[in-house]
Amino acid sequence: MKSIQAATYSISFQDKGYNELSNLIESNEYSSLFILVDENTLEHCYPKFIENLETTKSIEIIKIRSGEIHKNLETCISVWNSITKLGGDRKSLLITLGGGVITDLGGFVASCFKRGIDFVNIPTTLLSMVDASVGGKTGVDLGVLKNQIGLFANPEMVLIDTDYLTTVTEREIKSGIAEIIKYGLTYDVKLFNKIKQDKNNNINDLIFKSIDIKNKVVQQDPKEQNIRKILNFGHTLGHAIESFYLESEDKNNLTHGEAIAVGMVCESYLSCKLLGFSFEKVNEVKEVILSIYDKVHLSKEDFPGIMELLKHDKKNVNGQVNFVLLNDYEDYQLDCKVSNELITESMEFFNI
Ligand code: GLY
Repeated sequence: MKSIQAATYSISFQDKGYNELSNLIESNEYSSLFILVDENTLEHCYPKFIENLETTKSIEIIKIRSGEIHKNLETCISVWNSITKLGGDRKSLLITLGGGVITDLGGFVASCFKRGIDFVNIPTTLLSMVDASVGGKTGVDLGVLKNQIGLFANPEMVLIDTDYLTTVTEREIKSGIAEIIKYGLTYDVKLFNKIKQDKNNNINDLIFKSIDIKNKVVQQDPKEQNIRKILNFGHTLGHAIESFYLESEDKNNLTHGEAIAVGMVCESYLSCKLLGFSFEKVNEVKEVILSIYDKVHLSKEDFPGIMELLKHDKKNVNGQVNFVLLNDYEDYQLDCKVSNELITESMEFFNI
């Protein structure tokens, strides 16, 4: 598969990716190499990674605990301490090997350490392959508030090895599918139709196409002033729902994709109520999503808590929640204001 060229780095696949990484390491004379893993990627992905990398240099392993609840500043501090104790300096390289938590947090750690060291992303989940590892967003959560602390910083390269997907659960794969649906609805409806028509798509094609779309969007608007906001479709309500489930003691957490899938149905409904998006298409989006994900029931008592969390969405300006909505497939409108009543109605619509 050919590489995809981003602004300052390449996204390379399979063997080509390992060759490029080996060359990067050889040609840069890094003073030390670190790899950030969690207990899962250390056991299931690191052996394959090390077998494929050609270098005589030693690599120090830094392990953090898996899961969104560890995507916080405390974990960053522990990683900065480890790098410091292991003698890291400005010429160190940090390789991130894992899902979105590892790539987001690792990129943030690297970009702040001594005002920035090089890092390379090796995503191991579908979600991090098609979204988190590409585009230069790095960061961590603040309490349950998603990605509140972070900065834009590009990796030296992204290496996609789809064999790592054999190490994750079906539920994790479905989490990544939600982001692919998002690209389909906002940018290229062919991708949505592929998911709709055939649940046995060639995953490599879906990944390549998704990264290509994300890269095209990010290249036009790296700092999310404009078109990049479309990548937040479904995420405004989705993030609030995800955070709400994360902080509720009596609820099992939703994966990012499960929450975003609910968000996309609700935001399609809002698009229909406020813009020209047809009700037929709202139902189509809902049907496709419910054919993939178990139905979540949004309890009425939870609506105020979810609305409260919306206040912290990163796109808000002057306390006003800003949604990305759709006039049609592939036709979006940014910065849409929506009344609380309608937001509530959209969650009621999801429940029907
Ligand atoms: N995940 C959305 C973005 O990278 O802009």
